[in-house]
Amino acid sequence: MAENLIIATDADKTTRYEVLIPQLEALVSGETDLIANLANITAALKHTLDFFWVGFYLVKSNAGKQELVLGPFQGPIACTRVGLGKGVCGTSWKEKKVIVVPDVEAFPGHIACSSASKSEIVLPALKNNEVVLVLDVDSDKLNDFDSTDEKYLLQVMQLIEKMF
Ligand code: SME
Repeated sequence: MAENLIIATDADKTTRYEVLIPQLEALVSGETDLIANLANITAALKHTLDFFWVGFYLVKSNAGKQELVLGPFQGPIACTRVGLGKGVCGTSWKEKKVIVVPDVEAFPGHIACSSASKSEIVLPALKNNEVVLVLDVDSDKLNDFDSTDEKYLLQVMQLIEKMF
């Protein structure tokens, strides 16, 4: 695997994603461990896009009940468990869809892990039409995620879905 990530410093967001995605593919291609790959993906995303918080919540069973449990992430410490339909992450899980939140205070039930978080995007990864994890990205700026983020983060999710 590559030792260093090449980041298109000073480039626009599209270019940063374009340079990053092939490197992510190479990074995970030689490793079969899910957590190792998710950990490297969060580090690569954080350093390339300078996200405030980026991480995964994995669907896990606890006493016969499924919930999202915090996985690899980069950024401030975060809430560890999220229920189905709760917050942005739990809603993305329940509805099996990407959710972009321009202003977290305007999202009913938003779970504030950090008061600095202002906007958010959550994308689910599915196996056999069931959500297996979500990727959550938070910004400390309002309205910080657009169709460019959605397009490229969806490519990241497709890469992750191949690991299941
Ligand atoms: N805000 C999320 C919870 C996770 S933290 O942002 C890291 C939510 O409402 O689901």
